Amino acid sequence: VAQRVSPSRRSSKAAGAERAGTAPAPSSSSWSRQHLLGLRGLSGDELRTILVRARAYDRAMARVGSHTTAPTTTMGADASAPGSALDTRPISNELRGRTVGNLFFEDSTRTRVSFSVAARRLGAQTVDLASVGSSISKGETVGDTAANIAAMGVDALVIRHRSSGACHLVERTLAHLGHDGRVGASQQRVSIINAGDGRHEHPTQGLLDIYTLAERYGRLDSFDLRGLTLAIVGDVGASRVARSDIAGMTTLGARVICVGPPGLVPKALETLGCEVSHDLDSVLTRVDAVNVLRIQFERHESSGAPGAAGAGTNAGGAKGGNVIASVREYAELYAINAQRVARMKRDAIIMHPGPINRGVELTADVADSQRSMVLRQVTHGVVVRMAALSLCLGH
Ligand code: NCD
Repeated sequence: VAQRVSPSRRSSKAAGAERAGTAPAPSSSSWSRQHLLGLRGLSGDELRTILVRARAYDRAMARVGSHTTAPTTTMGADASAPGSALDTRPISNELRGRTVGNLFFEDSTRTRVSFSVAARRLGAQTVDLASVGSSISKGETVGDTAANIAAMGVDALVIRHRSSGACHLVERTLAHLGHDGRVGASQQRVSIINAGDGRHEHPTQGLLDIYTLAERYGRLDSFDLRGLTLAIVGDVGASRVARSDIAGMTTLGARVICVGPPGLVPKALETLGCEVSHDLDSVLTRVDAVNVLRIQFERHESSGAPGAAGAGTNAGGAKGGNVIASVREYAELYAINAQRVARMKRDAIIMHPGPINRGVELTADVADSQRSMVLRQVTHGVVVRMAALSLCLGH
C-alpha cells in the first residue's frame, strides 16, 4: 500500500517519517510567496525550502516504487514504468480540489508534461491551454487570456511565453484587476508559476539543475553548493535556463562560468554574478559539471541566413541562422564530445535542459553516456515542480 504524505500536515507526518526511517517533511516557514517568477531575488533559505520539499517528495515517490532513488544516467531509461516520472497517481491529497492551468504560449514537451504530472501527483486537476487552437491566435493579450482563465476559478497558472517578463505582466494584470474590484478574491489568489519567459528565467529548470548537481555530489541534505564549479556552455545570452541557473547556483555557493563564443556569451553576463570565458578547453578540466545549452535560433533575430540549418545537422530547422557563422566551426570549438569529456574530472557530469540538437552542442555518444544526467534532470523536474506548486498554493 502506498504511503501517502502531506508536507502541510507536519507533526503527524514527521512521526510517520521517523518510523519509516526518512527525514521529516521540511518546514515551509521560509516560504511566503504566492508566485514563482524567477530564482533571482530568492534567498538561500527560500531556495533550500523548495529543494528540501522536493527531496521529501522524491523519497515519498521512492516509497511507492519510483526508480528515482537509483540514479539512471543513460538515455535508454524507461520513463513510463509504474512509479516513474510519468506515473501520475497522487502520492498526496494536499492539492485535492485545486486546479492548475497550463498556459503554454510556446512549444514545450518536458516542462508542460512535468507540471501536469506534478500537479496530479499532489491530487490537483489540470487544464491545458495551448496557443494553437485558442484565442491567442486571434490576438488576445497574455494578460487577458490569463485573466479569463483565472475567472474560471483555477488556483495556479503555469505560464510559458516567448516574451521576457510575460509572467510578471500577468501577475501585475491580475493584481491590478483585483485592486479595481474587477476580479474577486479567489482570482487574486491565483499563483503564477513561470515555466520559461523569453530569455528571462525558467526557475523550475534552474531548481532541477541544482537538485541534479546536489544529488551527484552528495549535497541533498544541505543544498550547499560551495566548492562546486559549473560551466554553462553555449547560447547563454539567449537562455532563460542559464539566468535561473546562475541566480540559484551562485546564491547556494557554486561558482558558475559561462562559456561560448563572444556573440553568444557576452562579457556583460558577468553582472549576473558569473564568470565568462570564450575558451572551453581551458575551463573544462576545472569544472564539476557542465550544463550544455542548445543554440536557441528562434530567440535570435531572424535573418534567414543559411549558416546554421545548411550545415547538415539537425539544428532545428532554424531561423536566425546568422547567430553563428557555421555550425561545424561552433561544434569544433564548443561541442561537448568524447575527447573533451575525457579531459574532464573523473566524476564531472554533463547536464542539458533539452531539447538536444545531437551533433551540434553535444555528440550522441556523450548524450547517451553514463556521465549524462539528462534523464535524471527530467525525473527531478517532477519533484521540484511538486514542491513549487505545493509551496505557492499553500503560501
Ligand atoms: C529549455 C527552454 O524551453 O527554455 N528547455 C526546457 O525547458 N526543457 C531550453 C531550450 O529550449 O533550449
